[in-house]
Amino acid sequence: MKFSIKNGKPEMQKSACVVVGVFESRQLTEAARAIDKITGDYISSIVNHGDMEGKEGSTLLLHRVPNTLCERVLLVGLGKRDEFCDKKYRDAIRATFEALHKTAASDAVLFLTENPVENRDVAWKISQAVIVSMESIYRSDQLKSTQDKTKRCLQKIVLGQENQLNLVTAEKALQQGLAIAHGINLTKDLGNLPPNICTPTYLAKQALSLAKTHKLKTKILEEKDMGKLGMGSLLSVARGSRQPAKLIILEYWGRSKKEKPIVLVGKGVTFDTGGISLKPATEMDEMKYDMCGAASVLGTLTAIAHMKLPINVIGIIPATENMPDGNATKPGDIVTSMSGQTIEILNTDAEGRLILCDALTYAERYEPEIVIDIATLTGACVIALGHIASGLLSNDENLVKELLYASELSADRAWPLPLWNDYQEQLKSNFADMANIGGRAAGTITAACFLSRFTKKYRWAHLDIAGTAWKSGKEKGATGRPVPLLTQFLIERAAKKRS
Ligand code: BES
Ligand code: MN
Ligand code: ZN
Repeated sequence: MKFSIKNGKPEMQKSACVVVGVFESRQLTEAARAIDKITGDYISSIVNHGDMEGKEGSTLLLHRVPNTLCERVLLVGLGKRDEFCDKKYRDAIRATFEALHKTAASDAVLFLTENPVENRDVAWKISQAVIVSMESIYRSDQLKSTQDKTKRCLQKIVLGQENQLNLVTAEKALQQGLAIAHGINLTKDLGNLPPNICTPTYLAKQALSLAKTHKLKTKILEEKDMGKLGMGSLLSVARGSRQPAKLIILEYWGRSKKEKPIVLVGKGVTFDTGGISLKPATEMDEMKYDMCGAASVLGTLTAIAHMKLPINVIGIIPATENMPDGNATKPGDIVTSMSGQTIEILNTDAEGRLILCDALTYAERYEPEIVIDIATLTGACVIALGHIASGLLSNDENLVKELLYASELSADRAWPLPLWNDYQEQLKSNFADMANIGGRAAGTITAACFLSRFTKKYRWAHLDIAGTAWKSGKEKGATGRPVPLLTQFLIERAAKKRS
C-alpha cells in the first residue's frame, strides 16, 4: 500500500472512497458535514434514519452519493465525542480498513485525523493510521502452497487534511509510521517462521542482509569465539543442539561514535524444548516464538535505520536452540559465565537468562548509556500481566518512567514489577554463586533478579514479553511487540539529544 498526505476538502475528492467519521447520537464530524452540505442533507438523512448511529466500530458504505466526485463514501462510527481517545482512534482506523478491504476500491481518502484526541497531535494520528492499516494487510502465508486468493484491491491511501497543515511535520510522521510498520512486519515474519527454517544461522544471515540494505554494521561470533570470551553460560544452552549458536551484533551509528550507545539485547532461542527439563507436548510448537526478543531487536534497528534516527544503537542477539541430547546440559551442572560468576543449572528450561547473562556482560564493552533486554523469559509473566502488558523491571527509576511514557504513546503497554533485593535470596545455591531458578513464587521477578547480577555497571531495563510477543489459538501469530515501544523510546531519546 502507498500512503500520502493531501490538503483538500472532503466533498471535492475524486476517489474510489472517501472516509469520514460520525460520532454517537448521530453527530456528524466536520468532514461528514461538508459532504452532507453539498449532497443536500443526504448523509444526515441516512444517519437520522438510524442506519449509522455513530457507535464505535460500526461502518456504513454508501455508493454514488449525489453531487460527489467519489464512487463511495464510508461512514465510520467513532463512539461518544467526549470519550474519543487514542484507543478509540486506533479502533476506528482498524474498522475503516476492515470495511475498505471488503470493497473493490483501489484507493481511499481518509478524513479521520482532524477529530481531537486527548494528548495526541496530528503527527501521532498520522503515524498510527499508517501502522494500524499496515497491520490490517499483514499475512504469513508464504509457506502455503496456494496463497490467500482474496485479492486486495486497496493500493493507495491518502490521509486527507481539511485544515492547512504543516506538510513537513505530516510527511515526517508518515515516514516514521512506515518505518515502524516495516520493523513490526520484519519482527512478525521472523517470529512466524518455523523453527526448522529460523535457526540461529538463519537469524545471523538476516542480520547480515539487513546490514547491506541499511546503514548497519554486523559482526557474528561463532561458538569458538564465545569460548574464548568465556561465555560458559551461553554455550551450556547450545550444547544439546546440532545447530551452532551465534552471537549476532549489529551496530547503528546515527551520531558521532563518541556518544555512548543504547544497547538492545534480544533473547534468540529459535526453539525451546526445555532441554533435559523437557517441556510438555501441548503447545510446544509455540516455543518457536522464543526468539521474538531477538526479532524485535532486528525490527527496531530496521525501523530506526529507515528513519535515519540521530542516535547510536547496538543490537546484541544471543541465538541458540535449547534441545535435549546426550551432550546436553543436565540439571545440577555448574557453569562459569563470562562475568566469572558461577551458576548451578537446576532447570535447563530456564535457559533464557543463561544466554542473556553472557550477552549482558558482553554489552559492557560498549560503555552503554542504557541497556534494555527483551525476552520471552517466563511463563509467570503471562500469569501476572496476561497478554496485555509486557513486564518491565529495571535498576533505574527514571528509565522506567521513560519506557512507560513511550509505551503509552505507542499503545504498546508495559507495566513495572518490583526488583527489590528481598527476592534475591530465592536464587541461593549451596554449590555455586547462584542457581538459575528461584522457585515458583514471583518467577518473573526472580528471573530479572538473576539478570540484575550481570547489569551492575550500567542503567538497565528488562522487558519480559512472554505474554505479548505472540497470540495463540485461532489468531496464532507474532504481534511485532515491543517494536512500537522500543522505537518510540528511541525517537524520544533522539529528540531530547537534539534539544
Ligand atoms: N521460553 C520460556 C518462557 C515461556 C513459557 C514464554 C511459556 C511463554 C510461554 C522460558 O525459557 C522458560 O521455559 N521459562 C520457565 C522458567 C522456569 C523453569 C523457572 C517457565 O517460565 O516455566
Ligand atoms: Mn525455557
Ligand atoms: Zn525459553
